[in-house]
Amino acid sequence: MRSVCLSLLLVSACWALPFQQTGFLDFMMEDESSGDAPTPPVIPKDPSVFFPKPQEPSIAPFEPVRPEGPVCPFRCQCHLRVVQCSDLGLKNVPEAIPADSTLLDLQNNKITEIRENDFKTLKGLHTLILVNNKITIIHAKAFMPLGKLQRLYLSKNVLKDIPANMPKTLQELRIHENNITKIKKATFQGMVNVIVMELGSNPLTTTGVDAGAFSDLKKVSYIRISDTAITDIPKGLPSSLSELHLDGNKITKVQAESLKGLKNLAKLGLSYNDISVVENGSLANVPHLRELHLDNNALTVIPPGLPEHKYIQVIYLHSNKIAAIGTEDFCPPSYNTKKAMYSGISLFSNPVPYWEVQPITFRCVFDRSAIQLGNYRK
Ligand SMILES: *[C@@H]1O[C@H](CO)[C@@H](O)[C@H](O)[C@H]1NC(C)=O
Ligand SMILES: *[C@@H]1O[C@H](CO)[C@@H](O)[C@H](O)[C@H]1NC(C)=O
Repeated sequence: MRSVCLSLLLVSACWALPFQQTGFLDFMMEDESSGDAPTPPVIPKDPSVFFPKPQEPSIAPFEPVRPEGPVCPFRCQCHLRVVQCSDLGLKNVPEAIPADSTLLDLQNNKITEIRENDFKTLKGLHTLILVNNKITIIHAKAFMPLGKLQRLYLSKNVLKDIPANMPKTLQELRIHENNITKIKKATFQGMVNVIVMELGSNPLTTTGVDAGAFSDLKKVSYIRISDTAITDIPKGLPSSLSELHLDGNKITKVQAESLKGLKNLAKLGLSYNDISVVENGSLANVPHLRELHLDNNALTVIPPGLPEHKYIQVIYLHSNKIAAIGTEDFCPPSYNTKKAMYSGISLFSNPVPYWEVQPITFRCVFDRSAIQLGNYRK
């Protein structure tokens, strides 16, 4: 009897437990959804339902209705005083360029002419990029308002002359690939701040650069006049010059006079000319030269003055007509007079039989691998 009762009790308890639990869980769930307890985050399958994309009209009205707001030429982009108008097929310098602009990029357009007032308001401009247009004429007063201009890029146009009245603040002028035939003495008058000058790939004639044309450029460090038809190294170059690139011209002779006073010159490029003579004393005039390129010329002997030169380290002489190399051509008789060893000498493609060159010729060369002797081809 007691055991039946007990078993009945257990049975009812056993049956009762699941039901009670179900009820308890139901209550909990009800409680959660009622808002008292913190709700776990709901992740919707499509977030745009909860975060709809802002509608265009909600921000658009702000710009056009602000009358004193920043202006920007149609189709250009203006941001942080930089005005970007490249590759737009423009035929003129656009109007309404913000007056406080510092950089104006007009490259790759179809501008044919720079008019008197094109840059009239741009008194704070630092950089003007006009590369790859069709400019033939620049008004003589066009650049006068640009009182802070430092960089002027005019390459790849059809200019016949270097522009007049460039700002005296200019530090960098790039005007290669134009149709300039002449650089007159007065062209760069007073341009005391120029550091970089790139004038290559212009049809500069035989006497295309007047003596002293660069003499006002007291701070100039880099001049490049490559791929023109000049037959001489320009005279009266400033002593500040550290790199002079004159490759691809028709220079026939290195005159000592042309290099006089270039005490800072470190690199001299004269590859691809018609040089058959390097005058005695030329190298002595450039005592700090480190690199000299004379490859692809018409030299028949090693240039004089190399053994006495203290700093020259790299000399290209390949593709010339050098038929003999002596043991005293590169190095001084005694070791210690040369302050820097050679790190590169190229002599291949010369008629000298390389097996006739004595190894002792290169006694002041840093490493054997620094010498490119090779075979004379053709
Ligand atoms: C360059 O100038 C010459 C005259 O000096 C002219 O005949 C030639 O057409 C010009 N080149 C271009 C591309 O305008
Ligand atoms: C070049 O100068 C050296 C001395 O530095 C001299 O011995 C030589 O004769 C000169 N050569 C010419 C062609 O003047």
